[in-house]
Amino acid sequence: MKIAIGCDHGGLDLKKEIVAHLQQSGVEVADFGIHEYQSVNYPDIALPVAKAVAAGECERGILVCGTGIGMSLAANKVKGIRAAVCSDHYSVKYTRLHNDANILCLGGRVVGPGVATEMVDLFLNTPFEGGRHALRVQMITDIENGERS
Ligand code: RB5
Repeated sequence: MKIAIGCDHGGLDLKKEIVAHLQQSGVEVADFGIHEYQSVNYPDIALPVAKAVAAGECERGILVCGTGIGMSLAANKVKGIRAAVCSDHYSVKYTRLHNDANILCLGGRVVGPGVATEMVDLFLNTPFEGGRHALRVQMITDIENGERS
């Protein structure tokens, strides 16, 4: 599994922890930066990560900013992206099982590295349940494509 990852200055420390964790676990990581501390605009990072996931170049994505919220708002503007901000294991589990979320957004100022790396593992290892949830996810896609009013 190849994972796209990116962060702004609010998420840099946590992203470094997550990249190290993924590499130790043998997961291939495409790191879209930032790599050193600098003030950046989170949509500039969310866009290439979201595009890599939407294009199928990476199976899932992880975005980290101060809260995770700005990254999720930006990533969800890209067609095919279902980006979920999570701060707890339960939300991660169900956003995979029920929403088929393909990007996990984390707040570097919200969650610590222990919780975050466990949530990342859960995000990568929990399948989509399908069934009645497939219809609901399709309805989101239909909204995205202007096919529901
Ligand atoms: C940057 O200060 C902060 O606004 C950003 O990391 C993020 O939290 C936005 O949603």
